[in-house]
Amino acid sequence: MAAKDGPALIDVQSISKFFGSVIALKEISMICHPGEVMCLLGDNGAGKSTLIKTLSGVHKPDEGRILIEGEPVDFDTPRDALDRGIATVYQDLAMVPLMSVTRNFFMGREPAEGRGLLQRIRIGHANTTAREEMKKIGIDVRDPTQAVGTLSGGERQCLAIARAVYFGAKVLILDEPTSALGVKQAGVVLRYVAQAKARGLGVIFITHNVHHAYPVADRFTMLNRGRSLGTFEKKDISREEVLGMMAGGKDLDQLTSELEEFQRADTAGGTGVSQLEPGAAAEAAVRAS
Ligand SMILES: Nc1ncnc2c1ncn2[C@@H]1O[C@H](COP(=O)(O)OP(=O)(O)OP(=O)(O)O)[C@@H](O)[C@H]1O
Ligand SMILES: [Mg+2]
Repeated sequence: MAAKDGPALIDVQSISKFFGSVIALKEISMICHPGEVMCLLGDNGAGKSTLIKTLSGVHKPDEGRILIEGEPVDFDTPRDALDRGIATVYQDLAMVPLMSVTRNFFMGREPAEGRGLLQRIRIGHANTTAREEMKKIGIDVRDPTQAVGTLSGGERQCLAIARAVYFGAKVLILDEPTSALGVKQAGVVLRYVAQAKARGLGVIFITHNVHHAYPVADRFTMLNRGRSLGTFEKKDISREEVLGMMAGGKDLDQLTSELEEFQRADTAGGTGVSQLEPGAAAEAAVRAS
């Protein structure tokens, strides 16, 4: 469970970021303790990616500050953030599909022996490690020399997360890790997020999908056009309330009544516009947005 007594792993205090006249983030605060999953929700353009890029050393905040384990930090590069244990797994994953599972796992950090020209990668050891690390998360890669392109999307996400954990991440930032995945594959990733949490890592989980976020999250921060709509503990907010807030309650109500209208027309005239339940259609629209 979350250890809230010590300093937070990451404490974001009133961060703002401007791109010319665009206010990408305005006074956003967020906190994540060891063993917590902090979920960042928001529609397209809400500022989610900008916020995580600020946490991972890609952007510098224009206002506010970031504390890691109680200490203010000023990252110049993503390497600086990584050195402080903040690992970000981007949606496009930066993997090489034609290279082996092992090579992707180590990505230039393969265990080696010898020095200089005599240096050799300990390929047997690397293969065993990659295989074992994947096994720990329940993915049986029988042959770690097989190309990453042969893994499923969910397994690739898990490989990227396993790699970050193996190299000492304390905070995992996952940008839309389940958005391109089907239910079963998303389940594999979500189970792994729960495992990382149980091991005491802090996880910042970015998603559009309330259904994926809700089961694993401890807390939600809702972004809307660069501003925070608030932070909510899971015990204080239901899945439906989160959904409503994501869609902007009014918009969702309007969408639902429009869809009901379609369905009435459909039943009356048999135009075949929609076979969906109005509620399900609205939810599908929210998920797809
Ligand atoms: N490098 C940049 N230069 C100028 N404007 C930018 C830049 N990066 C982001 N923005 C703007 O900042 C706002 C927030 O963008 P951001 O990518 O953070 O949104 P997001 O919540 O990640 O959206 P999505 O769900 O579509 O990924 C948008 O209006 C975007 O156009
Ligand atoms: Mg984004």
